[in-house]
Amino acid sequence: MVSKPRGTRDFDVAEMEKRRFIQKQMETIFKRFAYKEIATPTLEHLELFEIKSGENIIDELYSFKDKGGRDIALRPELTAPVMRFYVEKLQMETKPLKFYYFGNCFRYDRPQEGRYREFWQMGCELIGSCSPGAIAELIALAYHAIKKTGLINIRLRIGNLNLLEKQIRKAIPSSSLSDFSPALHTDIFRLIDKNDIESMEQLLKKYKSSPKQIALFKEFLQSNNIDDITNYFKDSTEAQTDIEDFKKMLDSLELFGVPTRDVIEMNIARGLDYYTGTVFEIEAPQLGAEKQLCGGGSYTLVPLLGGTEIPTAGFAIGFDRVMMTLERENYEFPFSSELIYVMSLDRDLDREVIKMASQLRYSGFMVDFDLMNRAISRSLKYANKIGAKKTIILGKNEWDQDKVVIKDMQSGEQQEVKKEELEAFLV
Ligand code: HAM
Repeated sequence: MVSKPRGTRDFDVAEMEKRRFIQKQMETIFKRFAYKEIATPTLEHLELFEIKSGENIIDELYSFKDKGGRDIALRPELTAPVMRFYVEKLQMETKPLKFYYFGNCFRYDRPQEGRYREFWQMGCELIGSCSPGAIAELIALAYHAIKKTGLINIRLRIGNLNLLEKQIRKAIPSSSLSDFSPALHTDIFRLIDKNDIESMEQLLKKYKSSPKQIALFKEFLQSNNIDDITNYFKDSTEAQTDIEDFKKMLDSLELFGVPTRDVIEMNIARGLDYYTGTVFEIEAPQLGAEKQLCGGGSYTLVPLLGGTEIPTAGFAIGFDRVMMTLERENYEFPFSSELIYVMSLDRDLDREVIKMASQLRYSGFMVDFDLMNRAISRSLKYANKIGAKKTIILGKNEWDQDKVVIKDMQSGEQQEVKKEELEAFLV
């Protein structure tokens, strides 16, 4: 027996029905925000993900040499592919560009609940503006898309990497600032992202940060109030624009119908290296360790891929985690069967069954009939089993009077209807 690779999943019919339903719910919101769907390949040149995704992602890449000796990777995410597509083909299009996508991603991670080696992301990328209003609309989109699925208990957290970086610089004595390389900056961000505050402290100590500086920085990481944050930067003229923009963004977010109480968190650093400015995450606290449902923010990738510099921002929702959370919340999927089953009580009418099924399908009904030569009693049981809403029964007596019997499979009620009026009784 050959089994599926570790960290991958099969989805049965019931699961696929639920997944497609939730996918559509979110797509409805993306479309209402005027985002349009695009798709990129599952395979990309390895190099695309080595440019700026960061160590975490590179460590987890599925990569191989193809038969032509090229280094290829399965995509671990879709932001870099979408930016590659933009640089290759779409730079001349009218801005802003609002794209959404739904696709599988691959990360060679240690599988556990909510963490898979193949998982699905549903995301958006906005190309052309990172104004406070644009970022607010993007965050509102993520929030409303997740809400539309029916999820109740979610938490939005918003941070700002410009302010975080400025504060890191304040935590390091000016004599050591010359050593403040991008690599160090990345290391500190990574430790904050992992919430490994102890290692972060060790690193700051290595750069001769005083206990007071470290304490102040740790306090800053806990700030969740815009007035406190403004206070941290009262002597820094260069931080004022970031603060003003942050306030404007929060104000717009309220206008987009997103509650902003307690959303600010300065300890969001994100796990990918391409982010700049505003970053945000949406969590489902009930998921425990893998509670992050969505992550995003503004980022810089286009110039690194050879394109002309342009503001870009986006987010991706972990689709599998949304499904998991819905199950945890005992969400009742509002499914009602639309399936119509057709059967005959007389083998002479079997040809009529096919004709009727074809006609009904042509009219737009979802129709099934027996393909296994079942006996009559078995056929009705089968209709029940496949969840038919109604069964049309063709019997010789009724047929000769141009009638059929319709059985409601839920109530068990049967009624005779004229053949030409049949469709009206099926809706
Ligand atoms: P990310 O935070 O790496 O961001 O992934 C986004 C979401 O994908 C996570 O919040 C999580 O729900 C889900 N996810 C990540 N890894 C796994 C996994 N192994 N199994 C199940 N779900 C997972 C990005 O990928 C960025 N490209 C988001 C973005 C778009 N930023 C700007 N635009």
